[in-house]
Amino acid sequence: MRHQVRKVVFPVAGLGTRFLPATKSIPKEILTLVDRPLIQYAIDEARAAGIEQFIFVTSRGKSSLEDYFDDAPHLAAELASGGKTDLLEILEATYMKSGSLAYVRQNRALGLGHAVWCARHLIGSEPFAVLLPDDVIAAEKPCLRQMVEAYGDVGGNMLAMMEVAPERTSSYGVLDVAAEPKRLRPVRGMVEKPPAGEAPSNMAIIGRYILTPSVLEAIGRAAPGSGGEIQLTDAIASEIGRRPVNGFAFEGRRFDCGSKAGFVQATIAFALQRPDLREAVLEIIAETAATRRA
Ligand code: G1P
Repeated sequence: MRHQVRKVVFPVAGLGTRFLPATKSIPKEILTLVDRPLIQYAIDEARAAGIEQFIFVTSRGKSSLEDYFDDAPHLAAELASGGKTDLLEILEATYMKSGSLAYVRQNRALGLGHAVWCARHLIGSEPFAVLLPDDVIAAEKPCLRQMVEAYGDVGGNMLAMMEVAPERTSSYGVLDVAAEPKRLRPVRGMVEKPPAGEAPSNMAIIGRYILTPSVLEAIGRAAPGSGGEIQLTDAIASEIGRRPVNGFAFEGRRFDCGSKAGFVQATIAFALQRPDLREAVLEIIAETAATRRA
């Protein structure tokens, strides 16, 4: 029987400089889409996939991220005594099981592969997921859940992938996979941030992975790659031929919340999903568009 995927790693050590000055005093992962911090979307997706242990790879200045997951008894009591049961429910949905969260520091900014490697002792010798909270995916069935279900059939390593415009491939890890209309496709190779014109396909890696612990050993041996960083992509590439490595074309809409335009786009899309906001936001959009045209 295949091991269940019980652990997830959230690499959240980045400085988030693209969102300065906001990130001067709050972690990027606390920035909110409508009213929920990015990290809450990530946690909810992991929980929906059956994950039980949540490992954060953090850095200096991220303590408010740790505080975010504490229970808030004073606030809860206040809401309860005011009869605000709807808000109380929202609050309690953020509560986590005692001992299910763990934090480890990335002591040096050496890249995504290195960040994941910093969690190796917490991961141990079982398959694990990696979820990049910047990549927010709206889907009927949460993306990681789709992957865990597909993983039951194939095991090994699995990376979420999505088609991007050819001129965007140099911003991603890119997979060498056949152009066929299958969700799950064997990966023949992969390159991190290929120079323009050199990408093996238009299928970009999106921040959801299920990995075997052998990837951690590969990271331990890895030399710095693209941008002088220890790349997760290179370590997974070294698994090809040894264990299954599959790309997974998920169902859903992905937002690049690591970029300002992507964050605004996600904010609008999520606001439109809310019955209490939809009409007002549509009106704002129409009004704004009309003013621009005038
Ligand atoms: C990281 C990965 C890259 C992947 C991307 C998805 O890059 O290294 O392979 O395509 O996330 O968002 P980053 O965006 O952190 O530079």
